[in-house]
Amino acid sequence: MKKKSEEYILGISEYELERLRFQHGVWKGITEGFFDKLGIKEGWKVLDVGSGPGFAAFDLRQRVGSTGAITALEPSEMYLDYFRGECFKNNWNNMHAVLGTVEDSEFLDNQYDMIFARWVIAFVPDPGLFLEKLTRTLKPGGVLAIMDYAYEGLLLYPNGGAFDKMAETVRSYWRHGGGDPYIGAKLPKMFKERNLSVFEYYPVGQCGGPDSGVFRWADKFFTVHVQQMVDMGITTQELGDEMLKDWVDHRNDPDSVFFSPTIANIAGKKN
Ligand SMILES: C[S@@+](CC[C@H](N)C(=O)[O-])C[C@H]1O[C@@H](n2cnc3c(N)ncnc32)[C@H](O)[C@@H]1O
Repeated sequence: MKKKSEEYILGISEYELERLRFQHGVWKGITEGFFDKLGIKEGWKVLDVGSGPGFAAFDLRQRVGSTGAITALEPSEMYLDYFRGECFKNNWNNMHAVLGTVEDSEFLDNQYDMIFARWVIAFVPDPGLFLEKLTRTLKPGGVLAIMDYAYEGLLLYPNGGAFDKMAETVRSYWRHGGGDPYIGAKLPKMFKERNLSVFEYYPVGQCGGPDSGVFRWADKFFTVHVQQMVDMGITTQELGDEMLKDWVDHRNDPDSVFFSPTIANIAGKKN
């Protein structure tokens, strides 16, 4: 049984599934741009770690073709049900679903040509073990590709209001769940220590006004998770209400601008 603090902080729900779908759409161009740099080939065996409902896995499938295979590893039964449903509906028989976390799963050595993990490693309590296990199941020459936060750069402009406290509050939220909001900045060293040669490492982010995808993506997060942060004692009700009011005031101002926190895209090859 996991300690409360080790449970996945964002939770599993229909709302969260729809948020992940929307999120995937907003970040699809940036994710595909990352895939373009990885030299993915038809026939590759790919593991999508913490796949959620599988939105990235479905895109990866198009790149490896019918001779390749995608395995989605995911601890939520509900997300895997969605994944299996989509594969069944579309007659994709090179897609595999595995229930579990990285930490609790047993992997065979040297299995995958590529492993992808987007928005997962920032949430796990032992990222070293997580990377260790993934590196072992990667083939020599295989690619480990991760997209995750270095949670800086969050900005709601004009700034100066209560929302300026949001970045630190979200970082505390991540840590409360056992995660690390700066993992994206730590990964180059962690890759090196595991004999992975980094060949891509760059930051990605988006900005836009209230009608933009990135603003609406953030809206789906803050309007739900601020109250959760209050309920978990990460911030006070008073500050939570003030941050949310500041957010809503900006949302109603067509000239306001939101900058997402930085995400690091990193890829390394197993030596
Ligand atoms: C924010 S979602 C991202 C989903 C998907 N990677 C995407 O980009 O759309 C994080 C996912 O990681 C899963 N997860 C959390 N801890 C995990 C772990 N230790 N091992 C594998 N998956 C994990 C969660 O169940 C959730 O589906």
